[in-house]
Amino acid sequence: MKRDITTALVNEHRLILRMISLLERNAPRTEDGSYTNWQFYLDGVDFIRNFADRFHHAKEEDVLFEALVNNGMPRENSPVAAMLMEHDQGRVFVKAMETAALEARDGQTGREQIIAANALAYAALLREHISKEDEILYPLAERVIPETIREGIIAGYAAAEARTEADFTSHYEAVVAGYEQE
Ligand SMILES: [Fe+2]
Ligand SMILES: [Fe+2]
Repeated sequence: MKRDITTALVNEHRLILRMISLLERNAPRTEDGSYTNWQFYLDGVDFIRNFADRFHHAKEEDVLFEALVNNGMPRENSPVAAMLMEHDQGRVFVKAMETAALEARDGQTGREQIIAANALAYAALLREHISKEDEILYPLAERVIPETIREGIIAGYAAAEARTEADFTSHYEAVVAGYEQE
């Protein structure tokens, strides 16, 4: 039996989807003026940058997608190339959401629409992105990546985890759970 190389990533998607659900819940309320907790959006940016991007996307970009390219998937005009473009597109929405949330926190008015629009655009992009990975790209990886290189992939994930603090994931789970209670 081949060693599993995608379940850990699917589990990370579950936490990312919980943050996406919070964005989808709060952004419409920000748009209509009833939710003005700007810190939620700044904590959302921190979650996305550190947990979704530096941690999860780094495992994909530096480890799993590299392995796919080394095992026959083209680097350009391919599912991997499309996933990388979506990671970049997500970063643009997050940057815009952060800028507007910082301005709102500092007292500028009229930032609600920009915050909500970028939060919802990010949520829609990532929801679709995660479903493509969960349903198409990861199952493909499990089919095509040979057992001989799986140990290296698992070591690559471990190296990404070793670069984080010991309580990294539990910290972000607590952040999400806290806002779910709000
Ligand atoms: Fe991804
Ligand atoms: Fe992913």
